[in-house]
Amino acid sequence: MLRPVFTEKLEFDAFPRPHFAYGIFFAALQAKALGYYRISVYEFGVGWGGGLLEMEKIAAMVTKETSVKVEVYGFDTGSGMPESVDYRDLPHVWKPGFFHLDAETLQKKLTTAKLVLGNVRETYLLTGYNF
Ligand SMILES: C[S@@+](CC[C@H](N)C(=O)[O-])C[C@H]1O[C@@H](n2cnc3c(N)ncnc32)[C@H](O)[C@@H]1O
Repeated sequence: MLRPVFTEKLEFDAFPRPHFAYGIFFAALQAKALGYYRISVYEFGVGWGGGLLEMEKIAAMVTKETSVKVEVYGFDTGSGMPESVDYRDLPHVWKPGFFHLDAETLQKKLTTAKLVLGNVRETYLLTGYNF
């Protein structure tokens, strides 16, 4: 049986996280239009890793589809939610340590994505961007 092509799957929202697929695909198309053949995509807050693993798969498909190399990075404390610093963090909902990531187990499942551990307040510098 023929497998649906990437764009067809995109059109039918046939990805577990269609917003990831849409965003990465159109970022790659835009890069290509601007003459770039390599982009990086970041997940800020990896949790248990489901999103990052999905991004890896999508990145490979998008690279195949567009010839733009897509590098995937996941940023996480590695120890779950940090202490809240502001009422807008909803401290009555989210407690420190929620979504604790088992970095070693996730690392074994990842094939191409790079996991950057630490508080993004510091590690964002590794992206090379000044947000
Ligand atoms: C809801 S989970 C992320 C879920 C994930 N994006 C997914 O789709 O599966 C939120 C994550 O953000 C991480 N996080 C929150 N604040 C952070 C910070 N300042 N630096 C690094 N990671 C942070 C926590 O460790 C937690 O794992």
